[in-house]
Amino acid sequence: MTTDMKAALCRHYGPPEGVKIANHPRPIPRGDQALVRVTAAAVTLGDARLRAARVPAGMGPLVRLAFGLRAPRHPVLGMNFAGILAQDGPFPQGTRVMGVTGLRGGAHAEYVAAAADRLFPIPQGLTDAEAAGFFFGGLTAASYLLDKARLAPGTRLLVNGATGEVGCAAIQIAAHAGAQLTATARAENHGFARSLGAIETHDYRQGLPQGPFDVILDVAGTLPWARAKPLLAPGGTLLLVTASLWQTLGALLRPRRGSHRVAAGVALDTPAAMARLLRLHAEGAFRPVIGASFPFADIAKAHALADSGHKRGSGVVLMDQATATAMAAK
Ligand SMILES: NC(=O)c1ccc[n+]([C@@H]2O[C@H](COP(=O)([O-])OP(=O)(O)OC[C@H]3O[C@@H](n4cnc5c(N)ncnc54)[C@H](OP(=O)(O)O)[C@@H]3O)[C@@H](O)[C@H]2O)c1
Repeated sequence: MTTDMKAALCRHYGPPEGVKIANHPRPIPRGDQALVRVTAAAVTLGDARLRAARVPAGMGPLVRLAFGLRAPRHPVLGMNFAGILAQDGPFPQGTRVMGVTGLRGGAHAEYVAAAADRLFPIPQGLTDAEAAGFFFGGLTAASYLLDKARLAPGTRLLVNGATGEVGCAAIQIAAHAGAQLTATARAENHGFARSLGAIETHDYRQGLPQGPFDVILDVAGTLPWARAKPLLAPGGTLLLVTASLWQTLGALLRPRRGSHRVAAGVALDTPAAMARLLRLHAEGAFRPVIGASFPFADIAKAHALADSGHKRGSGVVLMDQATATAMAAK
């Protein structure tokens, strides 16, 4: 006999209001998984994209083949969470943990079964909300800036789309690496971008910023090769965090463009990448920014915020306000 739990169910691709809280069978962990009682979960643009099947050009058919033609095959979305180990696993029962489920989702629920090697104890000083918002932007920014661009002190870097979930992490990691950082966002977010480590700021509604840049991190997906090329310094690199199928294939098949380089692709959530991000946090290079939090019952509002394309940092849902508050680190 299975036990039920409350979960946010997405039974059709569509708008935020289609996500409904309902009873759903509690997951039964397989051999390599552990059961976690979720206390907070991020509602990312990745979750919102899957909910709506709204993805960069050319990716739609692939996404529907992988996740379900008319509706998500796994109706519980959510890839990033914080919680409490519900049974002994990689750590003793009761340990505060944070983790990712990958594209299979499942974290927008009271319980999630997650791969044991993708669970980590929550570092001292992080709230449950911060732990839930830790990996999505951080893993993406670290993968692009440290692995693909090999950022070094003095690198002239443009982060295009700098105050959302990926951008907040990118600014911090780049500043820690000593990059000369220009951040784009609306003017009302410029003070916020500077507080995270940006040196120069630019309002993208005023046209393109002044180059040249050694590295351009295009988070917003508004700087394809033809627009970005004039801004690149000789030998510069364009990193397409948001890319159409054709841009992704182009970057794969023709990464060299004269003296320039173009890279795209999915940032991996391997245990090694997660452990590196935790080390960056311990060094003071990265702390997640929680722009908004909602009670679980209002998860549709968190989806709507993610849909907006203008959120600051991460949006999270708190499963049980009282528990999450009580567990907030001092
Ligand atoms: N490749 C990968 O592995 C990977 C991983 C994670 C995410 N992503 C992709 O990365 C993208 C961003 O994710 P996110 O979570 O950071 O999004 P987000 O939290 O919604 O942030 C969006 C950012 O873009 C800015 N922005 C909005 N419109 C813009 C425009 N026209 N020009 C320049 N900047 C603009 C916003 O600034 P204002 O608020 O000031 O407008 C904000 O800073 C998504 O498309 C997501 O799918 C890719």
